[in-house]
Amino acid sequence: MSAPFDRSLTGEVDGGLGQDAAVSPLAGDEERVVESALRPHSLTEFIGQPKVSRQLALVLEGAKRRGRPPDHVLLSGPPGLGKTSLALIIGSELGTAVKITSGPAIERSGDLAAMLSNLAPGDVLFIDEIHRIARPAEELLYMAMEDFRVDVVVGKGPGATAIPLEISPFTLVGATTRAGLLTGPLRDRFGFVGQMEFYEVAELQQVLRRSAALLGVDLTDEGSAEIAGRSRGTPRIANRLLRRVRDFAEVEADGRVTLAVAQAALALYDVDDLGLDRLDRAVLEALVVRFGGGPVGVATLAVAVGEEPNTVEEVCEPFLVRAGLLARTSRGRVATEAAWHHLGRPLPRGGALLGGAGGAISGLTGAPSTPGASPEPLFGA
Ligand SMILES: Nc1ncnc2c1ncn2[C@@H]1O[C@H](COP(=O)(O)OP(=O)(O)O)[C@@H](O)[C@H]1O
Ligand SMILES: [Mg+2]
Repeated sequence: MSAPFDRSLTGEVDGGLGQDAAVSPLAGDEERVVESALRPHSLTEFIGQPKVSRQLALVLEGAKRRGRPPDHVLLSGPPGLGKTSLALIIGSELGTAVKITSGPAIERSGDLAAMLSNLAPGDVLFIDEIHRIARPAEELLYMAMEDFRVDVVVGKGPGATAIPLEISPFTLVGATTRAGLLTGPLRDRFGFVGQMEFYEVAELQQVLRRSAALLGVDLTDEGSAEIAGRSRGTPRIANRLLRRVRDFAEVEADGRVTLAVAQAALALYDVDDLGLDRLDRAVLEALVVRFGGGPVGVATLAVAVGEEPNTVEEVCEPFLVRAGLLARTSRGRVATEAAWHHLGRPLPRGGALLGGAGGAISGLTGAPSTPGASPEPLFGA
């Protein structure tokens, strides 16, 4: 029964992006092991995301009272915000097993049919990166989600027959970093859609305090505030920076994570006070210094920093956009005024800066606190 399942939590597929791992929102292989130790196990332990968490609590409670599996749940949002954690929490809140797989792992609809027919009544099936599921498997999923039934097709061509197969009532939990790539019919079959938001600094501090307790790290409030402020609104990054700072504290200091220790460690790891790392800064410098603030195409920008355009586009830019430092416009990438300030450079005289008469600005969200307004998926994985 375990055969068709992928139990390794292969949620985040590291696309070979070359960024230094410190502030990447994607988890590496070793990190997944550490992460499972830090995962919250119940909704009350789950920090932040007040909206999703309260709505989900109602959905689960209602289902429990009716004695029926809850509606199918879709969790969408950038990597590292707690989608996998929530999927596992749904299982434990319901007291049912969670079977885990991912979109890319389901190559043939037969694989999915086998998984579905192996489910026990009430089980949770978690499909991570569900937008990457192959089309025939997706079509099979429609009927399974709606009628708890799958048609297994036997044979090919005109002689092929569909044998209907009953499956146990189950709850599908899908996670996606690219809700926009989901087809309409699939999205419509989820009764509950939870949109995960980036975390506030105070919430990340709570995450850090909890992780520090679990890891046995002595973390001061100033230390956690410093780390939280550089974590890009992402618990996964906060936890990772905590581990790096802990190493530094143990080797270079007395093990205690104070403000000074956190600052020194993060400087050593090239994570600046906004959470930008070396590559982010290189991109920003190139844009501001070499291209006078833009607009410039992403490919040109990538060449200037010696990186793949994909890396610049999927790893650096979403955060730079969210931080209000860079805007994607129809004519190319443009630096905002804040970019000059952040790099400590004087604004160009009379330059057509963002917010000026330039027009053509479509990608600017302005406020970093409204990432949802960005036209493209943030921290795309
Ligand atoms: N709300 C939260 N409270 C506490 N820790 C969290 C929370 N969200 C995420 N984390 C931590 O961040 C790590 C990454 O979360 P995960 O659920 O794998 O994110 P995603 O699946 O969205 O990429 C987890 O190991 C967990 O320790
Ligand atoms: Mg995940």
